[in-house]
Amino acid sequence: MDSAGGYVDYEFVSDFYDRVNEFRNEKDIPFFVDMAKQIGEPVLEIGCGSGRVLVPTAKAGIEIVGLDLSNAMLAKCREKLSSEPVDVQNRVELLKADMRDFDLGRTFKLITTPFRPFQHLTTVKDQIKCLNAIRRHLDNDGRFILDIFNPSIPYLADETRKEESGEMPEFEMPDGRKVLLRSRVPQQDFANQVLDCEMIYYVTHPDCKKERLVHSFQMRYIFRFEAEHLLANCGFEIENLYGDFDKSPFGTNYPGELIFVTRRA
Ligand SMILES: C[S@@+](CC[C@H](N)C(=O)[O-])C[C@H]1O[C@@H](n2cnc3c(N)ncnc32)[C@H](O)[C@@H]1O
Repeated sequence: MDSAGGYVDYEFVSDFYDRVNEFRNEKDIPFFVDMAKQIGEPVLEIGCGSGRVLVPTAKAGIEIVGLDLSNAMLAKCREKLSSEPVDVQNRVELLKADMRDFDLGRTFKLITTPFRPFQHLTTVKDQIKCLNAIRRHLDNDGRFILDIFNPSIPYLADETRKEESGEMPEFEMPDGRKVLLRSRVPQQDFANQVLDCEMIYYVTHPDCKKERLVHSFQMRYIFRFEAEHLLANCGFEIENLYGDFDKSPFGTNYPGELIFVTRRA
């Protein structure tokens, strides 16, 4: 299993990624676009993936650099950008790099991590390396937004998650493939707070051939105060902690999200 959330090893994920996300409430897109408008440019998105957030940000007139380790996800992002007007394309730079160790030789007004790429780092050592690299790339008056999920205790204790389940209806790809997504958490390492996750794609091709494709990846869950100590340890001061992308305060809704808006301490 790779350490980039399976996005390097399982290239097929990039094909389905945007379609799958359409089924969830993508409230994070307007949140990150608005924060970029408010805080300013340039923006650096860590783990930009297919450009789900990056492309709307560039379309809003904001200069943005996207960094990701997966060739397949970056290719998807490039493909999407190629159908945008030239001025939008010119606002974007895409880079293949590891969030644990990068040096872009410049700083940014805003650095973001939409949809939890940080949680693919499964050790404290890697988390600290990443936060140190982010801090080195942040303007003195810049902001860093850490987006992670708030671990739900009932969810972690729910043994039924070992079995495949899912509510998303089957969807059709432009090439005629029909895809049914199911997921499961076959194993949890409670000592290290690491979940082994699987996204399972049942694909039916137009010629009726069937495939079962499994995206296996690990995610580390991080509790609120653990994240606060980690951020403080790495030189960040928390300005706001939201529990959702509508900016409601953390704690309003359980489990909600953990969205830290931070600045250099
Ligand atoms: C869940 S996707 C999020 C993509 C995008 N930010 C979004 O909101 O849709 C996680 C992304 O993080 C990237 N990633 C995971 N580990 C990484 C690493 N060590 N360095 C850079 N990118 C990484 C993956 O390749 C993937 O594109």
